[in-house]
Amino acid sequence: MKTLTFLASIIIGLCSIIAFRQNLSNLTSSTVSQLLQLINPETTTATTTTTAQATPKPTTTPNLFTHPLDLPPGTHLTATTMSISRTIRKVFLALEQAEGAGARVRRSVGTPSLRNFSPFLMLDHFSIKPGAGFPDHPHRGQETITYLLHGGVDHEDFAGNRGTINSGDLQFMTAGRGIVHAEMPRQNADGSANVGLQLWVDLPKELKMVEPRYRDLRASEIPKVEVDEGRVTIKVISGQSHGIDSVKDLAYTPVWILDIEVRPGGKVVQPLPEGWNAFGYVLEGAALFGEKGNQTLVEQYHNVVFEPQGEAVKIEVDEGAEKAARLVLIAGTPLDQKVVQHGPFVLNSQEQVYQAFMDYQTHTNGFERAKNWESEIGKTFAEGRH
Ligand SMILES: *[C@@H]1O[C@H](CO)[C@@H](O)[C@H](O)[C@H]1NC(C)=O
Ligand SMILES: *[C@@H]1O[C@H](CO)[C@@H](O)[C@H](O)[C@H]1NC(C)=O
Ligand SMILES: *[C@@H]1O[C@H](CO)[C@@H](O)[C@H](O)[C@H]1NC(C)=O
Repeated sequence: MKTLTFLASIIIGLCSIIAFRQNLSNLTSSTVSQLLQLINPETTTATTTTTAQATPKPTTTPNLFTHPLDLPPGTHLTATTMSISRTIRKVFLALEQAEGAGARVRRSVGTPSLRNFSPFLMLDHFSIKPGAGFPDHPHRGQETITYLLHGGVDHEDFAGNRGTINSGDLQFMTAGRGIVHAEMPRQNADGSANVGLQLWVDLPKELKMVEPRYRDLRASEIPKVEVDEGRVTIKVISGQSHGIDSVKDLAYTPVWILDIEVRPGGKVVQPLPEGWNAFGYVLEGAALFGEKGNQTLVEQYHNVVFEPQGEAVKIEVDEGAEKAARLVLIAGTPLDQKVVQHGPFVLNSQEQVYQAFMDYQTHTNGFERAKNWESEIGKTFAEGRH
């Protein structure tokens, strides 16, 4: 009986991951049944086995990009108020929806309002109460970037990697050919929810099958720059701002991520590589975007999408505003390739997606270590759901 409830809770957990990762109505019933088949009693009843599996042969990583920022080394983009502003394509609210067990998610990228915005697949602004989480699940073909704004999230994968990211930290995960992991939010003493952003970035087709890798970026490693006489603070998570470079080699697909706080009366001109897809997401307050005399007010939980042409994004907060605006500004190299996604597998054709399901099920081609593996942190969740 215990086994049965345990099994049921795993299935519920898996379904909630899928629902969280992708609208369930967008999965064919055959994919759902394939996913359910993945849960067989043998693996779920197995006790913690950390038996070493044959390590898959590493594939070499082609050097597609000469520089992680796609710019010649040492080059800095500069901009002034005279720079040509990017035009706003659209502004829309990230609607809140219930996802998984106990999680609230505001999704902007990856909804009907913003699809096919390469290299970005999804942006979730999540809020997860203690007791909820994402137990063991697979990925292939994308990078996930998790930026924690409040609380803590534990992480554990089938290669034995384990860690925690806390408020202000990020984790860059390249799923590559395959990863199975669990992401479990912390139980905060005050009962508060764990809040953060998770961005999914597509991998270039040549890099879909690289070895998985992680790079944790601690809050203390992120350079900060103050501009406009201290009225604006920019955390350079990835990319560059006002002559300051971020830590390098965080992700394979070149992506810039800036966390910008603009206090009342403050303004900033932020250059972005021309031709890259870019958007802003307002976490707190409201900010004005665009040229003086033709500005658009973008409010909390709204996503502002820019046209790829233009040198810079101009942001300002009115002198009389009640509070500061905090937003993330994100830009990335568009990848010229087809995206075929089913839940946690993001590839370039339907055949490759079926292959991913097959490889996961048969523990091959990167999923060797999934055999008999079960995370420690995901187990506590399954037991807690009895
Ligand atoms: C799922 O997708 C369907 C069809 O696109 C839509 O009607 C529904 O509102 C979506 N649900 C959520 C929770 O996004
Ligand atoms: C399913 O996803 C595809 C691509 O992401 C999209 O074109 C299609 O409209 C979606 N269908 C539903 C029912 O949401
Ligand atoms: C004003 O800004 C909007 C949004 O960026 C743009 O579409 C429009 O062309 C701009 N108008 C002028 C006169 O520059």
